[in-house]
Amino acid sequence: MSEDTARRPLIAGNWKMNTSLDSARSLVDGVASAAASHAAVDVIVFPPTAFLQSVATVAAGRIAVGAQNLHDQPKGAFTGEHAVSMLVDVGATYALCGHSERRHVFGESAEWVGDKVAAAQAGGLTPVLCVGETLAQREDGDTMKVVRAQLEAGCRHLDADGVGAIVIAYEPVWAIGTGRTASPAQAQQVHAAIRGWLTDRIGAAAAQRVRIQYGGSVKPANAAELLAQADIDGALVGGASLTVEAFSGILSAAASERAPSA
Ligand code: PGA
Repeated sequence: MSEDTARRPLIAGNWKMNTSLDSARSLVDGVASAAASHAAVDVIVFPPTAFLQSVATVAAGRIAVGAQNLHDQPKGAFTGEHAVSMLVDVGATYALCGHSERRHVFGESAEWVGDKVAAAQAGGLTPVLCVGETLAQREDGDTMKVVRAQLEAGCRHLDADGVGAIVIAYEPVWAIGTGRTASPAQAQQVHAAIRGWLTDRIGAAAAQRVRIQYGGSVKPANAAELLAQADIDGALVGGASLTVEAFSGILSAAASERAPSA
């Protein structure tokens, strides 16, 4: 497998707290059908946990299914939470860790996110570690300081092999659900710095294999120019993952980005 093959585009849909059981089942079926025409693109959907098992059953291995959140402990008195083994039991193979809504709405600390990343990986889920700065942090010139601290804490229990096996999603908080996207150059600058952090931590060869997704108001109209950037290996999509039409537009953009030039 060439290094290039190792960084296949990875497009993920984060459905957040949306869909009904019926609409979730038809959405995943539509997404899986669309994904079938883009064999060079890897696809994940993150449905609400209540629908995870049903969505995984409909997906039937055609695309991957992941959990939006998890608890780092294996069991116990944690009302309302889900252990990694439970998510694996119902068909999850990936897990979002430290999505900005978990950090900012539910108060998850960077250290707890690190505990979740380690628990996910130890239990057989591929963690998607989400990082990103707020608008105030960007305006203060602290973007890389914030992102680096989130990466350090998020990977605090992992050895080099562990870090090499996660997915990273860079999502500037000011671009999530706002319709405001980072420009391709702004996004690439942070992605390159994340790749630099990985290089320091696990070496250049392993760093080149880690997939770094961009997230924040990605839609069919802006996906191609974002995915054309050297260190942007995929997208974590919220709003535009809720219709087959919009999400498959992003899959097409990812597929054509990888098509050999004529
Ligand atoms: P958005 O959400 O695409 O609606 O901005 C992205 C995310 O929160 O993962």
